[in-house]
Amino acid sequence: MRVRKAREADAAILCAAERETARIPGRLLSQPHEFHEAAFARKIGELAQAGSYLVVERDGAVVAHGLLEPAATIAAIAHVVTLTIVVHPGHTGQGIGTVLLRALQDWAQNNVGVERVELRVRASNEAAIHLYKKFGFAEESRFYKRAKLADGSFIDDIGMTWFPAADRRAQT
Ligand SMILES: CC(C)(COP(=O)(O)OP(=O)(O)OC[C@H]1O[C@@H](n2cnc3c(N)ncnc32)[C@H](O)[C@@H]1OP(=O)(O)O)[C@@H](O)C(=O)NCCC(=O)NCCS
Repeated sequence: MRVRKAREADAAILCAAERETARIPGRLLSQPHEFHEAAFARKIGELAQAGSYLVVERDGAVVAHGLLEPAATIAAIAHVVTLTIVVHPGHTGQGIGTVLLRALQDWAQNNVGVERVELRVRASNEAAIHLYKKFGFAEESRFYKRAKLADGSFIDDIGMTWFPAADRRAQT
């Protein structure tokens, strides 16, 4: 397994993987038709300047991607980044998410300007919540009925956070 920076040429694979993942109700917020290759390429380009966009390759094929994206450009929240992680269909449950999240946390720990990493996960996504807790993320908030599925039912979102600065202090 190899972790490397995403390239704009990866956009089609990443977009297809998110589209496929989004077919499972309650996984991703967007629906399959709401993913566009051009948006993936644009984001990869943007995060090459400010943030981190990584992919995992196994046997030469891209099997997962994850990103840490600055929350905003205003000064008061310039220390905040948002985490997204997607292990591609057919590759989950094989330790790939663990490898990817470790690499993203390493990046955050090595960037002293990053002091808060946040995410939102569907409350029904037990695998993801388990993974995040394993890496020190704590549940911070609950967003009731934030996701509405195609059948009209709702799922709550859980807000989770991890503070790299606290981890840096613990290691010194
Ligand atoms: C959630 C996700 C990132 C986890 O990555 P993964 O590669 O499948 O996870 P790993 O194989 O590294 O396993 C991580 C941990 O989760 C546990 N786990 C795996 N599936 C689980 C499940 N269904 N329920 C509870 N825990 C589970 C593993 O046992 C492991 O824990 P351990 O190390 O304590 O044994 C991945 O499944 C995924 O991308 N799913 C689709 C997209 C998604 O849901 N993204 C998150 C959106 S917020």
